[in-house]
Amino acid sequence: MKSVGVGCLVLLMVMLHAAEAAVVKYDWNVDYMFGAPDCVEKLILAVNGQYPSPTIRAVEGDTVVVKITNHIPTESVVFHWHGMHQRGTPYFDGAAYVSQCPINPGEIFTYKFKVDRAGTYFYHGHFGMQRSGGLYGSLIVDLPASKKEPFAYDGEHSILLNDWWHKSIYEQELGLNSVPFRFVGEPQSLLIEGRGKYNCSLYPATVPPTPGCLTCNATSPKCAPHVIPVTPGKTYRLRIASVASLSSLNFILEGHKMTVVQADGRYIKPFDVYNLDVYSGQTYDVLFTADQDASKNYWAAINVRGRNPKTPTGLAVLQYLPNEATLLPTTPAPVSPIWNDTATSISLAKQILAKVGYEAAPPKKSHRTIVILGTQNNINGNLKWALNNISYVHNPTPVIAALKYNIKGAIDSTPPPDYPVQDYNIFVPPKPSLSANYGSPLYVFKRGSVVDVIVQNSNTLTPNNSEIHPWHLHGHDFWVLGYGQGMYDSTKDAASFNLIDPPVRNTAAVFPYGWVALRFVADNPGAWPFHCHIEPHFHMGMGTVFAEGIHNLPKLPSQTLGCGLTKGLHR
Ligand code: C2O
Ligand code: CU
Repeated sequence: MKSVGVGCLVLLMVMLHAAEAAVVKYDWNVDYMFGAPDCVEKLILAVNGQYPSPTIRAVEGDTVVVKITNHIPTESVVFHWHGMHQRGTPYFDGAAYVSQCPINPGEIFTYKFKVDRAGTYFYHGHFGMQRSGGLYGSLIVDLPASKKEPFAYDGEHSILLNDWWHKSIYEQELGLNSVPFRFVGEPQSLLIEGRGKYNCSLYPATVPPTPGCLTCNATSPKCAPHVIPVTPGKTYRLRIASVASLSSLNFILEGHKMTVVQADGRYIKPFDVYNLDVYSGQTYDVLFTADQDASKNYWAAINVRGRNPKTPTGLAVLQYLPNEATLLPTTPAPVSPIWNDTATSISLAKQILAKVGYEAAPPKKSHRTIVILGTQNNINGNLKWALNNISYVHNPTPVIAALKYNIKGAIDSTPPPDYPVQDYNIFVPPKPSLSANYGSPLYVFKRGSVVDVIVQNSNTLTPNNSEIHPWHLHGHDFWVLGYGQGMYDSTKDAASFNLIDPPVRNTAAVFPYGWVALRFVADNPGAWPFHCHIEPHFHMGMGTVFAEGIHNLPKLPSQTLGCGLTKGLHR
């Protein structure tokens, strides 16, 4: 009798568990549509006619199934689920030519993956410059009812931040690849949840709008500011994600203190700020209380950091109910720290520490350290970015397939060079004699090994100029062990690593003329891009691929194959 009872209990628990983990399904049609996110009409990449693309919402442990139909007549797509680890499903990571073949026009592709951890995430196109073209949305994973957050709030909102150009992504892309180089330039607008406001009196300066041409309509409801409604006295969780193409952003909630509680979906030691730097690829969860004068509405604002801004502040409205959403604040747009005040950004970055007891400390030692020097180079007249002198180019065969099926000639088998960074002067433009080359090197790690990656920043081709680069790793989170200025010195700097409570993240910035030290465990069989999340930089070669557990790679679904040397490879 007793044993039957226990058996029933086990069965009941299994059933309860099964009931908890749901399958959440989405059916998406991808195509361009006309939109005017900042009042200027242009083509936008949209899912089911929506921009930003629909929010995915699921519970930790759920399986998300997204059926994609590519309706774009002349362009392939892929979707990357930024922050998802894709354990066991590395082929659904959605990085073109790394984890899969792009989805051709007219084709259907079904992503299916487990959302392994609650938090604020997002997804975006990962082919060409499709993220910059508007292909992105929120991905929010809730805790199961059985778990509780270590903080309290009454309601929540989420916002996606980005920067926006009026030039098409084709024009942007062609310019980046042209000799002479044509930069995308500073964005025309900054958008909050896909909305901004361009000054129509500037547009079009020379050509009067004619029917059928792109127009600027300042009164279009499509570019009314995004509204964040709050009830006075209540506390809110605001989920903030930056999908920006180029800009590092600083977020302000006018007159409101924000308590930062999570970064990239992981718990951090709460700290208070009045403005917050958000680099492309990062997310933050902040708490704020609607405790200001309730007769007014307030601005939510973003400004550019790290580049001399030529773009006005991006604005949304924090609406104190029952005020009308159309009651615009009369105050000027909130001002962020001056763009080149790097010290403020570095001290903010250093304030971000893991919440002890909620996030594991890193392993005390690493098995391997790689130093990656990021440089801007001129390769036969083309402006490029390179890592240890190699500017990444995609091969038409997905890296994961090349590894799994050992396809000869599909990928670069030469390991990347360990650049003699000691001899490199990061404070001056690269010597012309140190010309970089194109390549697609792959770092292969022993499965389960602990890897340190030091990303070393340098001077660009312009004297006295070094840029911020937010580095993102697919398939893993890493511990951010430390930031430093100048040249990384392994003997001295490694001793300063924070091994007690470094934050766990998937994207970390390397500051001008500085370095950042990251540690991760290579325990997720697959092939994973590690790249600068600035879209033009990645496009110009600022990335590489990490791989581990090659012999443990799962069988690749045939829908991920078919391009390059995987043609006819439907095993
Ligand atoms: Cu959100 Cu490979 O990027
Ligand atoms: Cu970069």
